[in-house]
Amino acid sequence: MEDEPVNIREFEERAKQVLPKMFFDYYNGGAEDEHTLRENMEAFKRIMLRPRILVDVSKIDMSTTLLGYKMQSPIIVAPTGIHKYAHPEGEVATARAAAACNTLMVLSFSSSRKLEDVASSCNSLRFYQLYVYKNREVSATLVRRAEKYGFKAIVLTVDTPRLGRREKDIKNKLILPQLSNLEGLLNVDVEQKGGSDLEAFASQTLDPSLCWKDIEWLRSITSLPIILKGILTAEDAVKAVEIGASGIVVSNHGGRQLDYAPATISVLEEVVKAVSGAVPVLLDGGVRRGTDVFKALALGAKAVLVGRPILYGLAAKGENGVKSVIKMLQGELELTMALCGTPSINDITRKHAQTEGDRIR
Ligand code: FNR
Repeated sequence: MEDEPVNIREFEERAKQVLPKMFFDYYNGGAEDEHTLRENMEAFKRIMLRPRILVDVSKIDMSTTLLGYKMQSPIIVAPTGIHKYAHPEGEVATARAAAACNTLMVLSFSSSRKLEDVASSCNSLRFYQLYVYKNREVSATLVRRAEKYGFKAIVLTVDTPRLGRREKDIKNKLILPQLSNLEGLLNVDVEQKGGSDLEAFASQTLDPSLCWKDIEWLRSITSLPIILKGILTAEDAVKAVEIGASGIVVSNHGGRQLDYAPATISVLEEVVKAVSGAVPVLLDGGVRRGTDVFKALALGAKAVLVGRPILYGLAAKGENGVKSVIKMLQGELELTMALCGTPSINDITRKHAQTEGDRIR
């Protein structure tokens, strides 16, 4: 029998072994030179921790809240597409694992399972991630279905007016299955002459004219809170608060959209300062360790979302693999909190992290 992976890196290796190259590359790849993809992880490594000693850490409480919902830890499942590439049960397996770990899951618009099936598979806290298509009625229909099936917020992805250039998918001629939530709603011909089906699909569907005033449209069709995912500057964070967003996700889409966009952890503080507590600021991109979660919290994030590690777990061992990945990150965060002398999430402060900027000052 193979040894259990002991960290996310080993889960990644396991996923690479079991998945067809085309699917592993889709999950793992980024845009163009993949500079931002690597930087997301490298930038975490340049931040050091400032542990405090002789604090009673016999009990560690990782629980926190988001939009009034209690979460067992500040670790959330990010929206990622097409889980059926990793496992036949797809997003249903991921949702069950997230529920077993009391973890919030954000279901992707590009889910390979119907949102109704995901909702009825388990009783857990779920948000729904939205893309706005040229045919607005498709997006509006999905928002209404998500609301009806108990999703508690809409996470509008705002960094994808067009799809980033993912060269691995182009080379592999990535095939795209029918996205199950779009069945009967949208028929797109993705017959490609030698490129990525996803790229062909995205260029026919995504609405590149989406702009700030359209948030009003979204608000007019749902009473759910709206979180904007894909903000990287103070300027846009301020606008997001002004138009009434209920939260912000500092994200560069895991380095899959604009290459040379900054590493998310490097711009988190800028966004947190601009927002000055008006709404929760979340972060995703490059979180592979409990120490990464801790660093993001120290720099002001309310919680983090985790993308690829979940897919590694799903590919390696289905639902149990996702559970192991979530529990691994939760366990690492708990240990980090103990070793830093921060028994609860509120104890984690800016002084527990040392950035490159701090060292120059
Ligand atoms: C994504 N991401 C994404 N985001 C989104 O808003 N809608 C989507 O459908 C997808 N699909 C998707 C597929 C795959 C395979 C990946 C890896 C990512 C981006 C995702 O939500 C998140 O921003 C990043 O994955 C975070 O980076 P890490 O944790 O993967 O480094």
